Amino acid sequence: MSEATAVLALAQRLARVAGALQRDRWESDLEIETKSSAVDLVTDVDRACEKLIVQGIQAERPHDAIFAEEGHGEDHPGATWRWVIDPVDGTTNYAHGYPCFCVSIGVERDGEPTVGVIYNPTLDELYHAVRGGGAFRNQRPIRVSGEDALARSLLATGFAYDRRDDPGPNLAAMEAFLRAGRAVRRDGSAALDLAAVACGRFDGYWELSLKPWDVSAGGLLVQEAGGRLSDLSGAGPAWSGDEVVASNGRIHDPMLEVLAEAGTSVESRSRA
Ligand code: IPD
Ligand code: CA
Ligand code: CA
Repeated sequence: MSEATAVLALAQRLARVAGALQRDRWESDLEIETKSSAVDLVTDVDRACEKLIVQGIQAERPHDAIFAEEGHGEDHPGATWRWVIDPVDGTTNYAHGYPCFCVSIGVERDGEPTVGVIYNPTLDELYHAVRGGGAFRNQRPIRVSGEDALARSLLATGFAYDRRDDPGPNLAAMEAFLRAGRAVRRDGSAALDLAAVACGRFDGYWELSLKPWDVSAGGLLVQEAGGRLSDLSGAGPAWSGDEVVASNGRIHDPMLEVLAEAGTSVESRSRA
């Protein structure tokens, strides 16, 4: 078994374990706190899922670095493998009992996203990708859509947690895409949005001010499903999460044009 295959198997197992906990605790009494802003939530289930995943990695791969949203990870400078974990992506949905959330586990090898696993416990859908090996949902290959017209495209986006203080330029982009596309969804889980692009449910997705754990697994899924992932310029990588544009490839340039026309540029963001 190659090392990437072993890493994938561990990521899939841990995603299922954490997802099962999310399913068990769904609509139960949660301890809910706020983090960076009044609308940035964390629950006891986020923390419990992250501990399960981190402990599972440490037990089998003690030398790997772990970068996890709720802070249970550990840095191992110089480690070949780094796990990038969002234990519950869609926490606001989870806290309200809205069934749109997932576990997202990306793994980098020497800094390059190499393995991606997303588990949606509500639908029992397990997505995975290994760089160069294609993308899958419940072991079946997935592809991005073949839609080539932005006007017929179903799009998705999300809004950062500082939106009350600094709405930034995404409202203008939202309005522009509502006019240019067929419809725009705002479902509240960036990882599931990316997985939906990978399997053709969405034709395109964009978001600003995400974090690496939002995009690590889903971005790889999009690439391995034949899609395109970029920053707002179209040329740069999206792995920081700061600027993410993901699509089936065919509508990517038109999406970048709409974003530029809406003023969603790096310059306008620093002025905002
Ligand atoms: C959030 C979700 C949401 C996106 C936010 C993310 P969380 O992640 O992915 O869709 O719009 O920007 O922070 O907090 O639920 O893990
Ligand atoms: Ca997230
Ligand atoms: Ca999260």
